[in-house]
Amino acid sequence: MGADELVVVGAINVDLVVAAPRLPGPGETVVGPGVERYGGGKGANAAVAAARAGARVHLIAAIGDDDTGDTALAELRHDHVTTDHVVRLAGTPTGVALIVVDPDGENQIAVGAGANAALTAAHVRAAVGALVPRAGCVLVSTEIPGDAIEAAVRTATDAGVPCVLNPAPVVPAVERLLGFGPIVTPNRTELFDLVDGAASDTARAARRIGERTGAPVIVTLGGDGALVVPVDGPPSMVPAHAVQVRDTTGAGDTFNGVLAAAIASGRPLAEAVDDAMAAAALSVGAIGARAGMPDAAAIATFRH
Ligand code: RIB
Repeated sequence: MGADELVVVGAINVDLVVAAPRLPGPGETVVGPGVERYGGGKGANAAVAAARAGARVHLIAAIGDDDTGDTALAELRHDHVTTDHVVRLAGTPTGVALIVVDPDGENQIAVGAGANAALTAAHVRAAVGALVPRAGCVLVSTEIPGDAIEAAVRTATDAGVPCVLNPAPVVPAVERLLGFGPIVTPNRTELFDLVDGAASDTARAARRIGERTGAPVIVTLGGDGALVVPVDGPPSMVPAHAVQVRDTTGAGDTFNGVLAAAIASGRPLAEAVDDAMAAAALSVGAIGARAGMPDAAAIATFRH
């Protein structure tokens, strides 16, 4: 068996979603017809996207010892995500995200981190260390403590395994970890947060990050596509697919999960980005972070 499995380190949430006529402003109440419950969390979402795309995926994360945690685990296992390294923390609730989605598919999200905030660096270091011999890529997102993020990136890169770091949200640990050489995948807002105003356009800002990582930088730009800035050579724009948008929640997670799955299996970066773009486009067609995530066959059909 080759080292082609994917290790994902990040958060597991339950998403409570209200589809409303518009997003609320400060102090404003908006009313939708009901509230729906979906599986969420950037780590768990990316793990599911990668598994549906055909990868063998291990998730390293934390949940509470509550019913919500039971449901979250069952959903992940249903999608063939290996959860042996998901810890259950007594007396701690599973993370919850409160999400409002408007008719254009835009969203607002507030997360109560719960168990995600108690994921320890020691657990992450041990779990990533046990899995890296068979891993082709480690994907890390940042809704977990900074020292757990650091443990994941450093353990992967010390072992020479490609690491994708999705800085969603941008936290201080991300800046500290650029020198370890991860492939960083910010959206436009996260990119400019990371360079802290030191560059005025997207390509220059991404180049600044790439100079620090010595690795490709991929900026996701929603309906405008993605900008790929290689280590050497000019940046290239990958156009977005034209699709009907119902809910953009989880589109970035889908992109990262499918990108990392393709990298884990040894595919060239350009092909990995094409797959990730196709999967992200398909993912926005249904309400709920994981509801529209495609399988490998759907990705392959949509790409061509
Ligand atoms: O990226 C979307 C995810 O962000 C949601 O599923 C929510 O749980 C938050 O983590």
